[in-house]
Amino acid sequence: MASAVSRERVALGDRAYDVCLAADFVGIGEALRLALPGTKRVVVVTDDTVEPLWCDALEAALQLPGMRVVLPAGESNKTVQTWSQCVDAILNAGVDRRTPVVALGGGVVGDIAGFAAATALRGLPFVQVPTTLLAMVDSSVGGKTGVNHPNGKNLVGAFHQPRLVWAALNTLSTLEKVERIAGLGEVLKTGLLTGGELWTLLQTHAPLLAAGDVEATRHAVGLCVRAKADVVAQDEREGGIRAILNAGHTAGHAVEQALGYGALRHGAAVALGLVAEARHAVKTGVCLDAALPDRLLELIEALGLPSRTPEVQQDALMKAVVMDKKAVGDMVRVPLPVRVGGVKLVDIGIAGLGDLLGELP
Ligand SMILES: NC(=O)c1ccc[n+]([C@@H]2O[C@H](COP(=O)([O-])OP(=O)(O)OC[C@H]3O[C@@H](n4cnc5c(N)ncnc54)[C@H](O)[C@@H]3O)[C@@H](O)[C@H]2O)c1
Ligand SMILES: [Zn+2]
Repeated sequence: MASAVSRERVALGDRAYDVCLAADFVGIGEALRLALPGTKRVVVVTDDTVEPLWCDALEAALQLPGMRVVLPAGESNKTVQTWSQCVDAILNAGVDRRTPVVALGGGVVGDIAGFAAATALRGLPFVQVPTTLLAMVDSSVGGKTGVNHPNGKNLVGAFHQPRLVWAALNTLSTLEKVERIAGLGEVLKTGLLTGGELWTLLQTHAPLLAAGDVEATRHAVGLCVRAKADVVAQDEREGGIRAILNAGHTAGHAVEQALGYGALRHGAAVALGLVAEARHAVKTGVCLDAALPDRLLELIEALGLPSRTPEVQQDALMKAVVMDKKAVGDMVRVPLPVRVGGVKLVDIGIAGLGDLLGELP
């Protein structure tokens, strides 16, 4: 008997789509044909770590002829060059405008494949099959695609919504522990933003989440997807409220970039960024809960995330933060916590950014 699949709808009018949360790939073929009737073949884009682990199982479940594009794994390969090679391979596969690009992998594969799908033939249908916790709770939903540039992270890209997202929890069984834990950094971000059930789950189940307990993980993924779907439906292109999803990312991205992409995992950097932003928010009177930074640090430890920032040059951090694409003139708009479940977008100038980075644990 097929196991239960839970569905969350991203309500974007005629571009609405389902995010399916399932135990495995059983049912994905049917879901794809429902979302994209008339599909005759697919192009599966994956990376060289995920391909030998999960590509056969996915293709068997899709029950559609397809071809594979295998990218080199890792954040250091999220480049314009890899995107260009991915587009070459998709075009050489003889696709037509109805051939979906199916991204099987983590956020790196999803971002590159999504950008390739957005640009090849001016837009091919796109399906996300996230295989990391980070991709399940965050990057596979919302349609942000793109690659890094020497000037900064994700500086080249496009909005291109998927037509279907299918998160198969069994794929997490092969994920390295350090990667899974990094994904919990984005779960923590979402818990801080939403409060409520997810924050309570984090308080009560952090050790189980750290240990990879399937039920706790499923519960957390479901709540994160619901929260993200809700924000994206309100503000698809980040004209306003979607910017709250950047919580932890101003200081986090700066650390990630200053250390060199890949040295500290994205989700782990975000968690450190949350602490810096909470401390800054307390000091500047934005946050009404003075105990919040320490509470976050306790959770970071309980989740098994690194609670200290690696040694990094202060001027490299500063350089990275002003390159941030959220910068408008000399100001960067930073989501600061007011309390658990409450956030305020604050424009911070150069001096304030220096103070913020100084608060990294
Ligand atoms: N588009 C968005 O909205 C958005 C949101 C958040 C993050 N991101 C991006 O996501 C990226 C980070 O994603 P990530 O953390 O998933 O990293 P990743 O894609 O690099 O995956 C991490 C590693 O795990 C391997 N892997 C993936 N799935 C596996 C599995 N099931 N079993 C074994 N190994 C597996 C990958 O090959 C890779 O080596 C960053 O580039 C970040 O900018 C994008
Ligand atoms: Zn992120």
